[in-house]
Amino acid sequence: MFSERIERLTGSLIREILAAAQRPEVISFAGGLPAPSCLPMLDFSGIPQGLAQYGTSEGEPALREAIAAEANKMGIVCEPHQVLVLTGSQQAMDLAAKLFIDPGTPVLTEGPTFLAALQCFNLFGARISAVAQQSGRLPAEAVQATIATDKPRLAYLIPSFQNPSGACYDADNRRELAEVFDAANVPVFEDDPYRALAYDGAAPAPLVSHLKNAPWIYAGSFSKTLAPGLRLGYLIASPTLLPHLVKLKQAADLHANRPAQWFVTRWLTSPDYPAHLAKLAATYRVGRDAMQAALERHFADLATWQIPQGGLFFWLKLNRTIDTRELLKVALEQHNVAFMPGEPFYPNPEDGLGHLRLNFSHASAERIEEGIARLAALVREA
Ligand SMILES: Cc1ncc(COP(=O)(O)O)c(C=O)c1O
Repeated sequence: MFSERIERLTGSLIREILAAAQRPEVISFAGGLPAPSCLPMLDFSGIPQGLAQYGTSEGEPALREAIAAEANKMGIVCEPHQVLVLTGSQQAMDLAAKLFIDPGTPVLTEGPTFLAALQCFNLFGARISAVAQQSGRLPAEAVQATIATDKPRLAYLIPSFQNPSGACYDADNRRELAEVFDAANVPVFEDDPYRALAYDGAAPAPLVSHLKNAPWIYAGSFSKTLAPGLRLGYLIASPTLLPHLVKLKQAADLHANRPAQWFVTRWLTSPDYPAHLAKLAATYRVGRDAMQAALERHFADLATWQIPQGGLFFWLKLNRTIDTRELLKVALEQHNVAFMPGEPFYPNPEDGLGHLRLNFSHASAERIEEGIARLAALVREA
């Protein structure tokens, strides 16, 4: 009855966990939810009535201009006409998959990588090769070797405060990787939703800003900086790719929500926006530091981890290779604490055994301490 690709459709574990973690007694480190105190008021007063009408697929001109201006400041040389406003930045994965992936198409990702990207690329039948990060870098030699053997037709990377590892590649690493992709002319998809959430200094210029000839897509989101419920993100693409992506957007949902675009434009162009971003970073830095202190207290002999310099997550490698999917069931049912198991972040889930991802932006410092203590007791028992 259904298309053959439906056999490859997997449920998102995170959505299931989020549903179970809704109970108020559960301390959840599972999702990447903004703190309620950081969400802007949904003030739509003064919205032009004209926005009730259909709009253009590319997005509202004022928003495309504001996005391009921000991107140029980051180091991506681009024009507003290269910007496509999206229904959440996750739509960039769907459009890129439709553009590049047939059943069997090789795709390169980091290992671990964002599980929704795996869900999307797998649905279209990608054959995914994951390159492991080492000491907070993505080794260019390993990427080069994978390109030589697997001949990927798309590379999907999250170089800044990666989800889930928290790694932020330094400028040299980005330059080396860009050279490798340029030499093999592999299209690069850089996913960058966490750039503004930097706690110890800004992330280096985007990897795509170093590319000289490989085609590229850069995706950004307003989910972490404003409100995920707005479902607004964007992509910027090299001129050869953009017309195809615009048509794919048209075929998918015609255009992004116009009132949400108006709301975001007002924030981006507001003199209060830098202060809003500074408040986010200050709030989440407190959460990051609270979790680091709790981990040092309770996990020092159980796991290793790096302190994330941005983003929303700690990535723990347990000293023992426990299946954290099994651990999660006990954690939720018996200890009222939730986290993300590591396995779904790898194309081959077995590579993720013994890892877990912990979010620090949503729970209060007291709940972080209590939840980490409960989790440590559970790991000790397991
Ligand atoms: C790496 C990465 N990309 C994309 C997204 C999706 O963001 P959006 O809400 O804009 O679809 C997320 C959300 O958690 C993410 O972690």
